[in-house]
Amino acid sequence: MPTAIRATGLVKKYGAVTALDGLDLEVEEGTVLGLLGPNGAGKTTAVRVFTTLLRPDSGHAEVAGVDVLRHPKELRRRIGVSGQYAAVDEHLTGFENLDMVGRLYHLGAAASRARARELLEQFDLAHAAERVVKGWSGGMRRRLDLAGALVAQPPVLFLDEPTTGLDPRGRVGMWNVIEGLVRGGTTLLLTTQYLEEADRLADRIAVIDHGRVIALGTADELKAQVGGERIEVVLLDPARLTTARHEAAAVGIEEPGVDDRDRRVTVAVDGGTTDLVELLGRLDRAGIEVLEAGLRRPTLDDVFLALTGHHAEAETPSGDTDDPNQPDDPDDPAAGEQEGVA
Ligand SMILES: Nc1ncnc2c1ncn2[C@@H]1O[C@H](COP(=O)(O)OP(=O)(O)O)[C@@H](O)[C@H]1O
Ligand SMILES: [Mg+2]
Repeated sequence: MPTAIRATGLVKKYGAVTALDGLDLEVEEGTVLGLLGPNGAGKTTAVRVFTTLLRPDSGHAEVAGVDVLRHPKELRRRIGVSGQYAAVDEHLTGFENLDMVGRLYHLGAAASRARARELLEQFDLAHAAERVVKGWSGGMRRRLDLAGALVAQPPVLFLDEPTTGLDPRGRVGMWNVIEGLVRGGTTLLLTTQYLEEADRLADRIAVIDHGRVIALGTADELKAQVGGERIEVVLLDPARLTTARHEAAAVGIEEPGVDDRDRRVTVAVDGGTTDLVELLGRLDRAGIEVLEAGLRRPTLDDVFLALTGHHAEAETPSGDTDDPNQPDDPDDPAAGEQEGVA
């Protein structure tokens, strides 16, 4: 399979901040790469380099066989980009937004209108086609922004955090749309802070931290790095953590982990619910009150924790802050998937 997106040794510094620190990536044609990392990991910087919006300090990047630095114009014809902040014109209707993009791409008036109608239909926006975007929900705006990236039917697509700030319903709607695209053979590089999003959409996942890839593989391969199932218990009383840890060690197959802040003990097991029942019995006999207990299969978040020592979402209590000049707040609850919110 030919490579659709390639980066070799990309470096990009903003003053003292090294946003990309020797990034290497390859995405095969017709596949989805999930670029997974916390806020500030370098995801947007990488997308900006691939889409010719930013010059790297060093390194090499090409998309669809075209070098980003040598042939930026040609490259732009082959890609679609949809950003973390929906770049739609609020004062235009849904139809007008897409029609305008078609005109920019010189599709011609008739073809441009037809493409706009087709995309509005495909993205479940036909009902809002004649309404100005100003009153649209966050999820609808994101879908329109993505539709805009597809007007010219590019073979390679970049989606930068397509669901950040969306509520669960908007997120699932977006996932369905993206899955449809991918079935059509589009090569996709998708950045995300959401582990379940990469798990669901990506063929391969590159975990990125501090501007470099720290792990690469399928979701299953990454999950395998943290072993199998495990038990988590949350205690009522933090003073009992040490005893609980001791009991967990007796049941588990590895040293238990303790999170003081969350009053949580985590331990890898191989006996499933039998081990869970066993541990709960031990804690009960030791007089330790349990607030929450569960058996968990590993998630990508666990992979991130294992790789970096911190949770993938720990640095992003309220979404992304990488563009302070951006007036729109995608995390604004008012931007939820409720149609007609002004
Ligand atoms: N225009 C900029 N000026 C200075 N620093 C920047 C700029 N853009 C990004 N950065 C910094 O570069 C690093 C990577 O940012 P970014 O690529 O936006 O990460 P991500 O998209 O993964 O959140 C962060 O430390 C961020 O603060
Ligand atoms: Mg970003």
